[in-house]
Amino acid sequence: MTYSIKHMTTDTEIDQCFVVMSQLRPHLTRETFLTRARSQMQEGYRLACAMTGDTVVAVAGYRFSQSLSWGKFLYVDDLVTDAARRSQGAGKALLQWLIAEAKRHDCAELHLDSGIQRKDAHRFYEREGMDLLGYHYKIAVE
Ligand SMILES: CC(C)(COP(=O)(O)OP(=O)(O)OC[C@H]1O[C@@H](n2cnc3c(N)ncnc32)[C@H](O)[C@@H]1OP(=O)(O)O)[C@@H](O)C(=O)NCCC(=O)NCCS
Repeated sequence: MTYSIKHMTTDTEIDQCFVVMSQLRPHLTRETFLTRARSQMQEGYRLACAMTGDTVVAVAGYRFSQSLSWGKFLYVDDLVTDAARRSQGAGKALLQWLIAEAKRHDCAELHLDSGIQRKDAHRFYEREGMDLLGYHYKIAVE
């Protein structure tokens, strides 16, 4: 299967990502997804999709950043393939495109976090040659 990769920037295009994105982020409604994606885009968040024709098969949300430890890097916030279309190469196509996008923007590395329960995704990342680096901690501050 071949996929075209497309940046999603207009309200209509962002909305087209909702059905797939909500499979990874089920707390979002169609409205809150649009509002939050738009707000994040003002701070550099981007959406890219693997498509067949007009159909969104996989979605990635990502941004560029830099840190003392990693230098300039591309960070993947969200990566998900439509449940009915998994294991058909869309995730690989989108991840390879993200790696090329990182190179195009002079990043030395691509990073992402993945929930400890997402064992299948970990298999995918390791198959794609990614290294497991460490733990991710959080504390509520409210
Ligand atoms: C991880 C994910 C993005 C990979 O996308 P994909 O389009 O299935 O990727 P590919 O077809 O290129 O590769 C498939 C491989 O991904 C892995 N995989 C992870 N979750 C899977 C799932 N639910 N169904 C099938 N394969 C899955 C398998 O290792 C699979 O390899 P296999 O087909 O040899 O078993 C996708 O499976 C997914 O959306 N999973 C649920 C959401 C998720 O966990 N996202 C990652 C957040 S950090």
